[in-house]
Order: sequence, then C-alpha cells, then structure tokens
Amino acid sequence: MNKISDSILEEIQNCCDIAEIVSGYIPLKKAGRNFKANCPFHHEKTASFVVSPDKQIFHCFGCGAGGDVFSFIMKQERMDFPEAVRFLGEKVGVVVKKEENPSYPQAGSFTGSLYIVNELAEKYFQQNLLKPGDSLAELAMNYLENRGLNKTALECFNLGLAVDKWDGLLNFLQKNGISQELMLKSGLVVKNANGKVFDCFRNRIMFPICNSQGKRIGFGGRIWNTVSGVNSANQPKYINSPETEVYKKSKNLYGFNQSKKFIIDKDYCIVVEGYLDVIVPFEAGIKNIVASCGTAFTSDHARILKRYTHNLVIVFDSDPAGQEATLRSLDLLIEEGLNVKIAKLESGYDPDSYVRKYGGIKFQNLVDNASSLFDYKLNLLCLKLNKLVPEEKAKIAASMLETINKIKDAILRSSYIKKLSESLMVKEELLFSELKKIKSFPTGGVDISKVSIPKIYKMSKVAEKMLMSLMFEDGGFIKDLKQIVDYDEFSDPIAKKIVRHLYEQDLSECNPIELFKQIGDTQINSFICNLLVSDMGIDNKKKSFEDCVRKIKKDKIQLQLDALHQQINRLKQSESQELMSLLKQYNELKKEQNAYETVAKKES
Ligand code: UTP
Ligand code: MN
Repeated sequence: MNKISDSILEEIQNCCDIAEIVSGYIPLKKAGRNFKANCPFHHEKTASFVVSPDKQIFHCFGCGAGGDVFSFIMKQERMDFPEAVRFLGEKVGVVVKKEENPSYPQAGSFTGSLYIVNELAEKYFQQNLLKPGDSLAELAMNYLENRGLNKTALECFNLGLAVDKWDGLLNFLQKNGISQELMLKSGLVVKNANGKVFDCFRNRIMFPICNSQGKRIGFGGRIWNTVSGVNSANQPKYINSPETEVYKKSKNLYGFNQSKKFIIDKDYCIVVEGYLDVIVPFEAGIKNIVASCGTAFTSDHARILKRYTHNLVIVFDSDPAGQEATLRSLDLLIEEGLNVKIAKLESGYDPDSYVRKYGGIKFQNLVDNASSLFDYKLNLLCLKLNKLVPEEKAKIAASMLETINKIKDAILRSSYIKKLSESLMVKEELLFSELKKIKSFPTGGVDISKVSIPKIYKMSKVAEKMLMSLMFEDGGFIKDLKQIVDYDEFSDPIAKKIVRHLYEQDLSECNPIELFKQIGDTQINSFICNLLVSDMGIDNKKKSFEDCVRKIKKDKIQLQLDALHQQINRLKQSESQELMSLLKQYNELKKEQNAYETVAKKES
C-alpha cells in the first residue's frame, strides 16, 4: 500500500484547525489558552476534555484519549488513518490521490454503485408497503402490526415489501438507469439457466441491511403472506442477499447502524439472533442491540464491536440443543478480549416474542442479570456431569480450562482458576499445571504462576512530568538533561520511551506533532497530550529543572536502598561477610542521597 505523502498530511493539518474541527462535534468552552468540553469518548459530568489550539492537539484527563486532529477524527468517526486523512482532506479541499492507499473505496466506483442499487431497492420496497389504498400493502401493514411493529419502528428500520411479481424491482431499477450487470452484481436480481432475469425477493417483508456507516448493502426478506397463491411450503422463512462486494455476512451485524450510539452510551451490546429480535426490543426502548442474523458470531463481528464496547450480553433462545456447541464458539469472543455474559430466555421464547409478552422492562431485567460466560458454562457442565465422580470432574475441568486458556489477561485468568478450584474442590496448583498442558495459548503463554504483582514505585511522577514538560517547551533542556539523567532513570515506562526518543534524535527543539508521527503509539500520544495541555505552573524554569533532577536522583537511590534493606533483613542473623558489605553499601548510598538534600536546602 502506498503511503500518503508527508507533504499532503502537512497541508491538510495546516488547513484544519483542531478547535474548529472538534467544535463541529461538541460545544467547546474557552478556558485560558485552551478549550474545554465534556469528553465525547466517555461519559462524564465535568469537562475534562481539553483542546489546545496552540499545539493543535486534544487530550481527555478522564479517559486518557488524546492526539492530533487526525487521531480525533479516527476516534470520533471510527475511521482508520487513511480514511481520516481523506475525510479531512475533503473538508479543506486537499486532494489525496487515488493511488495513495488504493484499497479505499472511491466515490463512483463499483462498490459505490452497489450502495446506490441497494438504496434504490429500499425505496422501491418502501413505496410498495406504504402505497395508499393498495390492498396488498394494507395486508402487509396488518401483518406487521400484528407482529407488534409500529410506524416508528418501520421507519427507523426502513422496512418494505417485495410484491409477488417477477420483475417489480427489475423494472424499477431499469427506469432508474441501473445496468443489468450491476443489478446482477447486487444479487437483488438473478439470472436462471435459460438466461431469464428476475427479482430475487418476491412476496416478502423486506429488512434492509446497512453497514456501520449506514450505507445500504443488502436485504433480508421474510415470507409473510401464505394466501397469495404462492406455494411457500418449501421456501425458507428468510432469504438474504447473497454475499457481494459490499455485503459480507461474517462482518455484518444487523441493527448496528441504529444501535451504535446506544452501545457507546451503555458501554455494552446485546447480541440476539434475528431481525425481529432487534426491532421489537429496540421499539421497547432496549436500543443497544444487534443481531448476527442466522450466521454464527465471528471474530470479525467481535472486532467491529470491540471498537465500541468490550462488553457483550448474548441472549440465548431457550433451545437447549446445541447450546454447548454455541458456547464453545463463544470462546473466540474471549480470545478477542471481550467480556461476555449470557442471558437465557424461558423455554419457547425468543427476544421478539418475550418482549411482546412481558414487555421491555422484564427483558432488560433479564439482561441485567445475565451471568458471565464462565459461570454459565460451568453451570451447564455441572448439570450435565456429576462433579463428585472423578472422571466427570476431570471432564468439567478440561472443558473449563479450554475457555480459561483463551483469556489473555493473566490476572483475570488466575481469578477464574480460583473460582474453578473452589467449585470443583481441586487445588489451584493442579489446575494451573493442567492449564500449562494446553499448548495452544496464542500469545506465547504468560505463566500465571510466575506473574508477580508489580512493585509499586514511589518515585515522583510529577518531577518526571515536569522535566518532560520543560523539554517540550524549551529544547535546550533536552541536551542538559541528557548529560545528567539517563532515560532509564525515569520510572514511568512511557516517559522512558519518550525521553529515550528525544535523546536519540538529538533534537534541539521538540515538536509534539512531529513526535506523534515518529512514535505513533496511542498510549504515548495521550501521555504527551496530557503533558502539553496541563498547566504545570512552572515559574522559574531553571530552578524547577534542578529540583526535578534532584528528586529523580534521590528517588532512584531510595529504590536501591529499599532493595538493600530487604537483603539486609534476610541476612541479619548471619553476621556474614556479605551482610557487612551490604551495610557498607547502604550507608554510602544514604550519604549520596543526603547530599542531594543538602544542595536543595542551601539553594532555598
Ligand atoms: P428464527 O427462525 O429464529 O426466526 O431465525 P425469527 O427471527 O424468530 O423469525 P420470526 O420471528 O419467525 O419472524 C433467526 C434468524 O435466522 C435467520 C434470520 O436472520 C432470522 O432472523 N434465518 C432464519 C435465515 O436467514 N433463514 C431462515 O430460513 C431462517
Ligand atoms: Mn421470532
């Protein structure tokens, strides 16, 4: 893939004022040299989102989000970098050439045309359903009403009707100048072996399918009217658009376009199976909901949702057949780092019929009380197998360990091991050693038994931040600091990386935007943004610099002293040679540390 050239990036950046761009999304309030707002990326009541027009960056002190104007658009519009560049380029009239990042869909391209065909089809199906005085339309409306769908829901999800004709859509598309080739590519029109071309969807209620940007990519159609003379006995209840260049079943979630803002708001997503299982709860006020529509949940689905939330509640129909298989397939969600819960409906219901019978509040209750995938699976296994019988206990353990093995977070894994050990009354160590036998762990297997709680450094992060702030403001400090403080003496790992970079580049001046481009890591970017927009209240730069250096040196010695202290304690009964030498080291270090203090006192 060709890279977008730096000069183009620069040009776009120069034309885009970050404050102006951000204020297109959220109202900004002036606060000194900066602007403040409630962060658009997380829930908050007091404004901790800061935009600095001087530095052309943003930072949220609440959630840590931060970066330049491109990062803002990437996050806000959920675009990747090339998309964000193009998006901003279009705003300010800078053309990003087609050959730069060729995978990006061009307007007027084939994919673009497929969206248009689907959009036209949606219009046609909607017209059929809303045709005044038409008896078939009336019947269809009755059907939908009986299924509990009101007008708002029909409009929100743009439902329509495919009439019982072979060429209804075909003619409509033709009239709108769509070529036969394109119609066939969209899958809405098909050609049989004799070369006859006809509508794919006939006599069906039509559910348009959108991608996450709201572009129309396909349809699902449900049989509804069995009295119209068509023999529907051997027809599937639902048919869907075939896979096309724009519609990929494994990547698409029904209802996502309508529900995504609610998913962000609630920070979790309810996953159901069917079209109506989305629409009926949505209508009842449960709006953070999507459906995988007949296909199994894939890791692509997981990755899409992950950009919006890490929390899923999967609503299972009560059908117990194949539940275990489904559960196994959910392990992939865990592998994606998602936090998965399961809500189970009472027998004979799906979300659609449940909500219609009991109402949205009861459905919400069910979702609120969902159990974790782990508990759910364990429960299910314990119902099926007897954990008091050793062989069966081993089976339960093996199956649960398979799931636990997929969890990447070591702490979480060990907490599940603990739970499992309690439930099965098996020693934790035994489960750990069983876990080790499962070799498939994808990340190279962090050995939980060796994970120790990181030492809590007492070193002053404030001093480190102040030094970095000084280096950003005045490049002269970079050279000065490099002479006396090694980057490794910084305790914060991110600070370490940044300082190392500054030292190695041998910069005489530090441009944060440049730094973003060079380091380009979200954690680092937000660290820098935080520094740049926070007012550290430094008056006397030179004195602050020296104070901070001393603080760092002192703290570093303190760490060494602490370590020595521990060693000394361990040896204190022995009167050994080793102990003597450690005590000597300790005293020398203490002296060194005191020296820093004396300098400080003399100066003040
Ligand atoms: P269900 O058979 O559970 O149907 O299929 P449903 O959603 O409850 O449908 P209603 O309530 O009778 O209208 C669940 C989902 O599986 C897909 C559809 O996406 C459906 O919503 N499906 C089902 C198909 O794709 N084809 C089929 O023949 C049946
Ligand atoms: Mn149903």
